Amino acid sequence: MPRIFVTRRIPDAGLQILNDTFGEEAVGVYPSDEMIPREDLLREVRGVEAIFLILTERMDAEAFDAAGPELKIVANMAVGYNNVDLVEATRRGVPITNTPGVLTDTTADLTWALLLAAARRIPESEVYLRDGQWKGWGPLQFLGTDVHGKTLGIFGMGRIGQAVALRAKGFGMPILYTNRNRIDAALESELNATYVDKETLLKKSDFLSIHCPFTDETRHSFGKDEFAAMKDSAYLINTSRGPVVNEAELVEALHNETIRGAALDVFEEEPKLARGLDQCPNAVIIPHLGSATFETRAKMATIAAENIVARLNGQVPPNCVNPEVF
Ligand code: GLV
Repeated sequence: MPRIFVTRRIPDAGLQILNDTFGEEAVGVYPSDEMIPREDLLREVRGVEAIFLILTERMDAEAFDAAGPELKIVANMAVGYNNVDLVEATRRGVPITNTPGVLTDTTADLTWALLLAAARRIPESEVYLRDGQWKGWGPLQFLGTDVHGKTLGIFGMGRIGQAVALRAKGFGMPILYTNRNRIDAALESELNATYVDKETLLKKSDFLSIHCPFTDETRHSFGKDEFAAMKDSAYLINTSRGPVVNEAELVEALHNETIRGAALDVFEEEPKLARGLDQCPNAVIIPHLGSATFETRAKMATIAAENIVARLNGQVPPNCVNPEVF
């Protein structure tokens, strides 16, 4: 019987570590590239010591019950861990780990890809061209919005928010940001960043990019009131977690042109989209690809595997997000 259950096929780099350390017979991998059905998850975790978890899988009281008392670690292959009930994990003394750091720059790169794609209408105009609709250059065709010199608002100035801000220097963009805490003054000046309240952020940003974690406090931080407070020429970019934005109200705002556009990597109820979102020409939408590069996914799988190795060897796993269990 496997000691470790991996809830989906993962990059080889991570699997290799588990196989080399524990032997292939100790590692069970759900043999699919798709999300494991809930009943299979509940069955497969029974009695295991470690779960290598993918962010689409919910680890809640029911799943902890299904796993049972042998469970020593849940290693989430993501920096965000809102798919795990942390209170429940901690109550049961199970350490949860994540993969911080390695996906910071990759996600920041993608944020910029989205921002630029929305501002310059890349997906919309590409479809037009591929469709054979282009009749030649036109002075009014697909006019977009200048990016350089505009004000970039950052909601959540953690590692990824800072990496996004750093890239804005090349575009000569001043930064406004909100965060739970102000970052230090030297970093503010390096990033050309000014700490403001949310009201100012909404009012003054030309591009507003979300980089906070998803928690009870950040749920629906952006809804109709926020969109109404933004410039009608502004764009919203979200590469954090879908439920930080009220997606139905965003569709409404895009439809009514309350704001000019949005670019989204994440959605409230993935893989579903709010009704009408796929019909908004002023929305760039991609399927949760923030960390999706060969290099970064290999690093994430490696880190998650290393956390399992550490824990099953009796050490404190290096990326534990609930260290109080020790
Ligand atoms: C991806 O969304 C992650 O949290 O790593």
